[in-house]
Amino acid sequence: INKMNSERLLIKGGRVVNDDQSFYADVYVEDGVIRQVGENLIVPGGVRVVEADGRMVIPGGIDTNTCLHKDYLGSLPVDDFFQGTKAALAGGTTMIIDHVTPQPGASLLHAFEQWQAAADRKCCCDYSLHVDIPQWDGGVKDELEVLVQEKGINSFQVYMAYKDLFQMTNSQLYEALSCLRDLGAVVLVHAENGDLVAQEQKKILSMGITGPEGHPLSHPEELEAEAVFRAITIGNQVNCPIYITRVMSKTAADTLAQARRKGCVVFGEPLTASLATDGSHYWSRNWAKAAAYVISPPLSPDPTTPQHLHTMLTCGDLQVVGSGHCAYSTAQKAIGKDNFTLIPEGTNGVEERMGFVWDRAVALGKMDENQFVAVTSTNAAKLFNLYPRKGRIAVGSDADIVIWDPDHVKTITAKLQQSALEYNIFEGMECRGVPVFVISQGRVVYEDGKLNVQQGTGRFIPRKPFPDHAYQRINTRNKLYVIYLYVYILGAQVDDNVPRRSGHRIVAPPGGRSNITSLG
Ligand SMILES: *[C@@H]1O[C@H](CO)[C@@H](O)[C@H](O)[C@H]1NC(C)=O
Ligand SMILES: *[C@@H]1O[C@H](CO)[C@@H](O)[C@H](O)[C@H]1NC(C)=O
Repeated sequence: INKMNSERLLIKGGRVVNDDQSFYADVYVEDGVIRQVGENLIVPGGVRVVEADGRMVIPGGIDTNTCLHKDYLGSLPVDDFFQGTKAALAGGTTMIIDHVTPQPGASLLHAFEQWQAAADRKCCCDYSLHVDIPQWDGGVKDELEVLVQEKGINSFQVYMAYKDLFQMTNSQLYEALSCLRDLGAVVLVHAENGDLVAQEQKKILSMGITGPEGHPLSHPEELEAEAVFRAITIGNQVNCPIYITRVMSKTAADTLAQARRKGCVVFGEPLTASLATDGSHYWSRNWAKAAAYVISPPLSPDPTTPQHLHTMLTCGDLQVVGSGHCAYSTAQKAIGKDNFTLIPEGTNGVEERMGFVWDRAVALGKMDENQFVAVTSTNAAKLFNLYPRKGRIAVGSDADIVIWDPDHVKTITAKLQQSALEYNIFEGMECRGVPVFVISQGRVVYEDGKLNVQQGTGRFIPRKPFPDHAYQRINTRNKLYVIYLYVYILGAQVDDNVPRRSGHRIVAPPGGRSNITSLG
């Protein structure tokens, strides 16, 4: 470990690009941390110099959505934590947040430990974990508390889809969100109306449609938008920050944007796939090809979707780009050969994530370089309380750094990818913008198209609850709400001679746990 961190690097002659400014500066790195940023730096002798040649020096990407250890009927994806993080690094992503996906009824804590052990053995970049909540019952609460307070987890996923498996009712969502708000967590929501999806699946199957096209047909866009609206409504009702994972359609994104304009604390994450391709491939005559695109919510058949989502990222209506990378081979997908509802869901995208945002938004003059850094790295760091350790080039930040070449054009092909998949859903597509050097924990791990990594070197990065970016408004609102209830419902007046004692109690403790009953 020490040997690995002992490398001293001087990145010379680049333009540092953060989410809020760009400037020409050299960057000096020692022991995995950025020690100096500026011109004419005085550094020790024997330092390795990396020439940036005027190219961009950006914070390494953060992929907020990978599933590298999620089994489907007992079989694991072909990209595990080693293969998947190699692909991440080759695309300029130096940190992933993977989903822990426990089975219904299983212990969340146990699943977390399993994921952490597998990741510690295999990851070659830093990582953190979201924990999915497959079922809401009383016992879960104690485990959530331990995960937040002792294990460094501040984000959990709930499901409105997958009827009879993971789907929660509105009442359960209400309870889960209330509980998670008290703990200071960000709630990721898989937003699709699971009841209606189940009905549509039955209908489509009964019509004799069994191929992959049945997937988008049974998941119409409205069912995603409706669930997004409902998730935000419930979040607003209990004053909990909501993060919609996998924003796949225009109407879902529009619904989210409208809610933000009304002041709701909600964030949205489109995926590499929804930003770079569309759902027309579900009708491909090649079964394996069509099945490769199966993911939920599905890719929209509307070909204008990717550009719409890029526009929304640019104007801040959507904030974070994930990949949803979950790599099942064609043989694994073939479980659903005669029944589309059985096709394991997931696409590739961890390696292509940053490139497509550059190619489809920045290179077209839609987005600027600072926004690029924001949506591929900084916003995720802020939202999940990793900032400024991650997501920024600054003294004291981790030396997760990418030298980005905005002009290099690459043709995507499964033959040259790091992923172990035999296909790539972006096969043959050209993409402008590639990493030339990738530095992870202060070490050059990728240069000239070659990786130099060792499995197990990635570290688990714990995250504290109540990230300001999500919770500052929530906490203030919680205090105001308590005062509102006190004044208007309990019949007091603002300038009443409220006894000092009660006045103190109105102010909710940090985290905003409000106990109305103690006010009277
Ligand atoms: C398809 O699989 C589902 C389970 O997801 C099952 O309920 C249904 O009966 C199957 N239908 C056919 C036609 O095989
Ligand atoms: C709220 O306050 C009451 C009375 O002080 C107490 O009995 C109750 O346990 C508190 N509830 C919570 C959730 O803290």
